[in-house]
Amino acid sequence: SAAFAARQPFSAAPKAEVVPGERVTVLYGSQTGNARRIAEQLSKRLEAAGLAVRLVRADAYPQRELAQERYLAVVISTQGEGEPPDDARGLVEFIAGRRAPRLPSLQFTVLGLGDSSYPQFCAIGRQLDARLAELGGTRLAALGEADVDIDAVAAPWTNTVLEHAGEVVAKAPSLAVRVPNLQAVPSRTIYSREQPFEAAVLANQRIVSRDSEREVRHLELSLEGSGLDYAPGDALGVWPQNPPALVRQWLDVLKLDGGTEVSHEGRSLPLARWLGGERELTRLTRSFVATHSTASGSGDLARVLQPEHAAEFARLLAEYQPIDLLRRYRGAWSADALVVALRSLTPRLYSIASSARAVGEEVHLTVATVDYLAHGEPHWGAASSFLATSDEDGRVPVFIEPNERFRLPADPSRDIIMIGPGTGVAPFRAFVQERREIAASGRNWLLFGNRHFSQDFLYQLEWQDALKQGALHRLDLAFSRDAADKVYVQHRLREHGRELYAWLKDGAHLYVCGDATHMAKDVHAALIDVVATHGGQSPEDAKAWLADLLQQGRYARDVY
Ligand code: 2AM
Repeated sequence: SAAFAARQPFSAAPKAEVVPGERVTVLYGSQTGNARRIAEQLSKRLEAAGLAVRLVRADAYPQRELAQERYLAVVISTQGEGEPPDDARGLVEFIAGRRAPRLPSLQFTVLGLGDSSYPQFCAIGRQLDARLAELGGTRLAALGEADVDIDAVAAPWTNTVLEHAGEVVAKAPSLAVRVPNLQAVPSRTIYSREQPFEAAVLANQRIVSRDSEREVRHLELSLEGSGLDYAPGDALGVWPQNPPALVRQWLDVLKLDGGTEVSHEGRSLPLARWLGGERELTRLTRSFVATHSTASGSGDLARVLQPEHAAEFARLLAEYQPIDLLRRYRGAWSADALVVALRSLTPRLYSIASSARAVGEEVHLTVATVDYLAHGEPHWGAASSFLATSDEDGRVPVFIEPNERFRLPADPSRDIIMIGPGTGVAPFRAFVQERREIAASGRNWLLFGNRHFSQDFLYQLEWQDALKQGALHRLDLAFSRDAADKVYVQHRLREHGRELYAWLKDGAHLYVCGDATHMAKDVHAALIDVVATHGGQSPEDAKAWLADLLQQGRYARDVY
C-alpha cells in the first residue's frame, strides 16, 4: 500500500548504489495485473541472483532514460483488438515514434501476453520486440508470446532471462548488488495468488428479481484472520472449482473413470480431481482443438485450424466449449493425455464491491452467473457457478489483486464520475462506501445501466439511501430493454454532456468499469463527442485531451 511504500526509505536496508544503465530495468504494462505479476516474479529472481533491478510500471518510466538502458526486460499485455494496456499507451507510442532514441548498447527481451482467440494475439509485445531491435538493440532472449495459460510460456521465458542474467553478471560485475542484505518489509499477510486464503461465505444472495433473464448475486466473504487488506478499486482473485456436473459430462463422453490416478508435473491425483480443480474445462484453446482434431480424426476440425479459416476458427472459440467438441467429434483420449493437453485452471478476478473501511474484515462481490443453453446442452462459467453455489458452510480460495490504476483521487475534495453498467457497478459501490467513510467533500456521480428497471437495478436501495444521505450526488440510469429503443449509459453521457464536461474541467476523475469489447469503446466515443461539443474542440483535440486524462490516470478503466 501507499503507506508502506512511504515508510520504506526509513528501513535499515542499505540500497545498492546504481547509476542508470548499470542495472536491469524490468518494465511492465498491465491491464489486469498478469504482466505486473510476471514482472515482479522476474525482478525478485533477478535480485536473488545478485543483480540490481529496477521494476517500473510503464507510465512511471522516465522515457528519457531509455537511451541509457543497457539491460531491459519488458512484460506487456495486448488488449482485445491489438491495443496496449492503458498504463503503457504513452510508452508504446514513444518507442514506436520518431523521437525514440537509437539503442545500440541495449540488450533487451520482451514477453508479450495475450489471448490467441483474438487475431491480434500479442501484437504489442511483437511490435515492441521488433521496434527495439530496429532501434539497434540486441535480444537477450527471444520474444515470448504467452497465451491465456500464461505461465506455460512465462516460466521458461523467465528462466532464459535468468540464465542470460547470470552471464551478464559474470561479464559486468558492476551490475551485481553490493550487500543485498535487504530486510524484508514485514508483510501483513502470508496469503497470495499461490497460497490463497480460504474465505468463509457469509452471504450469497440473488440481487435481481426472480424474473430477471440474467442472474446476478451479491456475495460477502470473510477475510477474518487473513491479514488481507485491499483498497477500493482492487480485485479479488478467486480460484474456482469446475461444476461437478461438467466433470461428470467429460467423464461420460470420454468414457473415462474419474478414479484413475494421473501423475503429472510431480503430482498424482485422481482424474476427477484434475478435472474438478486443476484444469480449464470451460474455455476452448487452439491447442486443445488441434489435439482433438487428431484424436477424433475430424476433417472439419483440421480444416478450421488452417490459417485461411481464421475467422471461422475465431467463431468456433467464441461459441463452443471443449465439451461441445467432445460431443460432436468423438475421439479417444486417455486420462493421462487429457491432463497433459488441458491447460491449468487459472484464477478469475472480480472487482471488489466493498470498502474495507466500511465492512471491516469482509470482501463483497457482484457476480453475474454465467449459465446458458447452447447446442442443446447447459453450459456454465467456472467461477461464477462455483460462487453461485457456494453456501454458508462453503470456503472460497481467494487473494487480493491490487489495481493501482483504478484509484479514488488522493484529494477527497475532487469530484468523481463513475460509469458502470451491469456488474461494472461493483467497484463504484466500494468507491461510494469509501468516500462516505472518509467524509470526502467531492461529489459522486454514478451512471448505471442494465436491462430492466424493475428486475436488474443492482443495489437500488443502497443508491437511493446514498442519495438521501448525500453520499451520492447524482445518479443517471439507462435501462436498455424497457422501451423499444435501446438506451445505454453513453446516451446519458451525451444528454448530460454540458455538465459532464464542466465536472471534468473542474478536475473530476472519471472511471469506467465493465465490458471492454463494446461498452468501453462506445463510452469512449461518446466522451470524445462530449469534450468536442462542450469544450469547443476538434474531434482530434478532444481525443488527445482524453488520452492525456488516461495517461495522467484521471480517466481510469477497469474493463474486461
Ligand atoms: P443490452 O443487453 O440490452 O444490449 C449491462 O449488460 C447493460 O449494458 C445492459 O443494459 C446492456 O444492454 C448494456 N449494453 C450492451 N451493449 C452496450 C454497449 N455497447 N454500450 C453500453 N451499454 C451496453
